[in-house]
Amino acid sequence: MKRIQLLIIACLAGGLTPSAPAAPAFVPGEVWRDTAGEPINAHGGGILFHDGVYYWYGELKEGRTYLPKVNQAWGGTRVLAGGVSCYSSTNLYDWKNEGVVLPSDAKNPAADLACENVIERPKVIYNAKTRKFVLWFHQDSPDYQAARSGVAVSDTPTGPFKYLGSFRPDAGVWPINVTAKDKKPAKTNFLARDFNGGQMARDMTLFVDDDGKAYQFYASEENSTMHVSLLTDDYLKPAGKYARIFIGRSTEAPAVFKRDGKYYLIGSGCTGWDPNTARLAVVTNIFGPWIELGNPCQGKDAAKTYFCQSAFVLPVAEKSGQFIAMFDRWNGWNLPDSRYVWLPLEFSAEGNPSLHWQNRWTLKTDKR
Ligand code: DGJ
Repeated sequence: MKRIQLLIIACLAGGLTPSAPAAPAFVPGEVWRDTAGEPINAHGGGILFHDGVYYWYGELKEGRTYLPKVNQAWGGTRVLAGGVSCYSSTNLYDWKNEGVVLPSDAKNPAADLACENVIERPKVIYNAKTRKFVLWFHQDSPDYQAARSGVAVSDTPTGPFKYLGSFRPDAGVWPINVTAKDKKPAKTNFLARDFNGGQMARDMTLFVDDDGKAYQFYASEENSTMHVSLLTDDYLKPAGKYARIFIGRSTEAPAVFKRDGKYYLIGSGCTGWDPNTARLAVVTNIFGPWIELGNPCQGKDAAKTYFCQSAFVLPVAEKSGQFIAMFDRWNGWNLPDSRYVWLPLEFSAEGNPSLHWQNRWTLKTDKR
């Protein structure tokens, strides 16, 4: 008997009629499967839109979650780093696994990309001048004390990416908003402490402006202060111009977007894998001073960001005026089972963004 006949008999036996497949939709917090039926594995990720295709890059998290001895004091659980995964889509609902575009190194524990190390929050941008795809990520030691940025390049969005190495950004340069006090060495002056060797860089994102200039936002100074740092024209290094922003606010998980000439940043506080209250900020000059607007989340569980943490904000296919805020719902004791929560950004008449929980939602097809 053919499969279709079996299906009809099964449906009739159960008193059911065969129904059309469900229309695609975002279902925040549920297991999200790729086109092969496997759970999507791209955490702390970001999306590049290139030649009509979306590419979602993220952390490959596989295997057992454990608490390394060096992290026992603060409870920093982890899995062995799997590298950077990539998925592609043309409609943002259906994602094809394009494989691991920057694998971790299981053989050499001394390597930056050693699976014992940290490979987090990868972001890829395209450089129109060099025609290279440039990948930046948070590279770290298991105890998160190295706090470096790793960079890799590829000729194609699906890799393989060639690893160029890691560094602490902005070595030997004072930020443009430095004060005389900031330059004075003191026990808790991490900016001055790290002046020569480069600034600590943990959670990070990249942002490409309309003029093609690219910026790295990174949590620095022992996570107390964020830096926004201009990249060189090839996007491979810091250009030597940066500013301190959200000074002393311990903001991490930066996600940056631009709308109607203003830059916005959604971030979180610093509580490991545990959720806290999200933060929103706005500015007209990317180097600041940024103005904090409070928590963009509304409604139930808003104070805990719906048990999530920001990863990226995606402007949907250029000019449609829709933005998707991408969050991770971390599962600190089973990290591979961390979920994705994508929500539509809403904008007030004054242009202020906000977020509301949705059980299930779809993109608007109308244009702004
Ligand atoms: C919070 C950060 O936002 C994550 O990317 C990750 O580094 C965890 N801390 C580790 O505890």
